[in-house]
Amino acid sequence: MADQYAVIGNPVAHSKSPLIHAAFARQTGQDLVYTRLLAPKDAFVATANAFRERGGRGLNVTLPFKGEAFRYATVLSAGARAAQAVNTLKFDGNTVFGDNTDGAGLVNDLLHNLGFALAGQRVLLLGSGGAARGVIEPLLQQKPAQFVLANRTPDKARQLAEDFRGAIEARSYDALADGQFDLVINATSASLAGELPPLPPGVFAHGALAYDMMYGRNETPFLAFARDQGAGQLADGLGMLVEQAAVSFFIWRGIRPDSAPVLQLLRQPQDA
Ligand code: ATR
Repeated sequence: MADQYAVIGNPVAHSKSPLIHAAFARQTGQDLVYTRLLAPKDAFVATANAFRERGGRGLNVTLPFKGEAFRYATVLSAGARAAQAVNTLKFDGNTVFGDNTDGAGLVNDLLHNLGFALAGQRVLLLGSGGAARGVIEPLLQQKPAQFVLANRTPDKARQLAEDFRGAIEARSYDALADGQFDLVINATSASLAGELPPLPPGVFAHGALAYDMMYGRNETPFLAFARDQGAGQLADGLGMLVEQAAVSFFIWRGIRPDSAPVLQLLRQPQDA
């Protein structure tokens, strides 16, 4: 029987992960089945246990279970510890290995798909929830010249910044008015609600890249604002989604798939 994998979440019906992993499996000749697993909000552990009992080899974890998956893992990668969240579980007997590939996915998308070298750049990250925390360490590893974190509730940004030993600076949105950034990443959940983080005008440096970790059929309010503000390049989170999947696939199968054709497939209008 083919090895079993799934994405676990609630909701999960919208997830593109089965399509992505099926494409990776075809491309690399791996014999696996990848499905969607809807877990009741109070039954992540029971649902994951039942999947393992059926022979499941690994899970991708999406909202709202990344924190529970972090606690479920018996062995954690350094990235998962920094993120305090797990999006990839690998099962091996009684061992549950937990990793977080979101940050690597974002960095790979920036470097390889968008041609944006982070070294020496001024980076502004918006948000201080799980999505923001998960990408900070991998971004810092690329050695940006400046790393500013802004959040609507400034205390949360300050607390999160403290976990990164002075490598990042927390600011309120108001205090961004006198800065300019080469890369502005929206890691807030504002786009989900069709809202725009309260960015002052003028934060995008000439030619800056605006990156929204969300993706969808329509341009997000953040990307529309960035366009109006003269950002040089706009990107949604679809590339990050495919790249984080590629890193998960590598963790499970030891083979690195070619993400470019899969991203191209997802960008086709019928799959948007
Ligand atoms: P996630 O795990 O997706 O990061 P979260 O932990 O609920 O979700 O965090 C959501 C983030 O989006 C927070 O940083 C939140 O700001 P607050 O800490 O002030 O709540 C941010 N956010 C949500 N809606 C926003 C909006 N309309 N404008 C600015 N920030 C917003």
